[in-house]
Amino acid sequence: MTDVTLSSKNPTAVKAEALVVATAQTSDGVAVVSDQLPTDLLTQLETLAPQLGVTGARDEVRKIPAGPQLAAEVLVLTGLGERAEDGTFATETLRRAAGAATRELAGLSSAAIALPASDDDEIIAVTEGALLGAYAFNRYRSAATGTKDTKDAAKGARNGKNGKDPVAALEILTPLHKNAKAKLAAERAEILAAAVHAARDLVNTAPNELYPATFADAAKAAAKDVKQVKVTVLDDKQLASGGYGGLTAVGQGSSRGPRLVKVAYTPARPNAKVALVGKGITFDSGGISIKPAAGMDAMKSDMAGAAAVLSTVVAAAKLGLPVAVTGYLCLAENMPGGNAQRPADVITIYGGKTVEVLNTDAEGRIVMADGLVSAVEDGHDVVLDIATLTGAQMVALGSRTSAVMGTDEVRDEVKAAADAAGELFWPMPLPEELKSNIKSKVADVANSGPRWGGMLNAGLFLQTFVGDHPWAHLDIAGPAFNEGGAHDYTPGGGTGVGVRTLLTFLEGRAK
Ligand code: BES
Ligand code: MN
Ligand code: ZN
Repeated sequence: MTDVTLSSKNPTAVKAEALVVATAQTSDGVAVVSDQLPTDLLTQLETLAPQLGVTGARDEVRKIPAGPQLAAEVLVLTGLGERAEDGTFATETLRRAAGAATRELAGLSSAAIALPASDDDEIIAVTEGALLGAYAFNRYRSAATGTKDTKDAAKGARNGKNGKDPVAALEILTPLHKNAKAKLAAERAEILAAAVHAARDLVNTAPNELYPATFADAAKAAAKDVKQVKVTVLDDKQLASGGYGGLTAVGQGSSRGPRLVKVAYTPARPNAKVALVGKGITFDSGGISIKPAAGMDAMKSDMAGAAAVLSTVVAAAKLGLPVAVTGYLCLAENMPGGNAQRPADVITIYGGKTVEVLNTDAEGRIVMADGLVSAVEDGHDVVLDIATLTGAQMVALGSRTSAVMGTDEVRDEVKAAADAAGELFWPMPLPEELKSNIKSKVADVANSGPRWGGMLNAGLFLQTFVGDHPWAHLDIAGPAFNEGGAHDYTPGGGTGVGVRTLLTFLEGRAK
């Protein structure tokens, strides 16, 4: 990962390849937002900006030659948009502008960032945003096709066989560079960004490589050398004999058996005990209720919930949070093999409740049911689950905003954590009145109902398995995988959504 340091150097004197400064939209043009650049340079830039078509809008990044007044070679202008009423910029605005800039720094070996960073919140936002944007997934690119720019390829290590790597080293310029709290904030940002990157990597990994058994291996590898974290794996045989009928049923159509992976972080004196349950369908073909071919490739991302859970538990341990956290990764591949479950099958979830499988493409809720019952049984203060559960989530909220449902207080606590972390979540109801949608003619509950309210039907299905235990369900179907172009600190492909919200939630419970 990109190496990051705080420094109080003057932006004019930093000998980095690139210097990043912010622009903003004002009533009469473009402002360059910097306390430290000399006024004559600011004036020059503000005159030049409109001539270059720079507007200061959000997500606008422009590179220009740095000129003789700066020690850096390239000046990168990143837009913050308009100031808030009070003249400041929201922390999420800073985070996004920093990330938008670092995405454009790929291939460089050093850069300095001179965005507003004069208090802890700003330092957190700028450092987080910068690191979140400094991400690339080039694992599958070979030398021949990896980069169109052969001159880049010839440069060797940094732009080597795998296309452009993220900028190698970043200096965040701040007057607080020696402040202990600021340093802690930067360290936390590094741990958080590493966690988000790890979740993105798992989502981006091809499903022929990432299947339940290899995901379990990845969990062991991620937890190796992390103190107080233990990984236990139940394989397909143990799941079947242990009564985990949901994972068993969904996994039986694939030659690659299901797994339930528990990742437990147990600090010495925890203030709380939290369960995180993640949907880990390593590929969702729909099973016998098979999906249409168009867009099916995106279903390699159907394990994004489990990836977020794994990353969050590891990050909580690295931060030494005084909260015991157990992640439950519900891993299966949903395939239409000869032994696959059929519509009309009746299965028994861990704990004894029966489910009539009306649609094998509503598989996420089935594997999550096993995980949720197991989590409730283990006796946590609160259970959160996170899943790319329904297409209806995207119909309701689009591809950038996730949904949260659950018991009122926990749901609101998750929403508040998301707001603080800078992730878009919106509360959704679990109306009693819709419970009839998932009534089964033959079993305790059916796994699918009418199309309308599809996200809520799925939430109500999960609720059946947690009862009235404090709980929230996070549906990240849309935001987990960016099928469009990169924006702000968000790359195309896996986004790592949820990690920041979950970690912030845990930090709240740590107090
Ligand atoms: N993994 C999908 C949900 C999904 C769709 C996630 C699009 C991300 C993008 C889930 O397993 C699914 O197929 N759900 C069905 C449920 C239906 C059959 C009741 C859906 O939403 O169509
Ligand atoms: Mn499905
Ligand atoms: Zn699915």
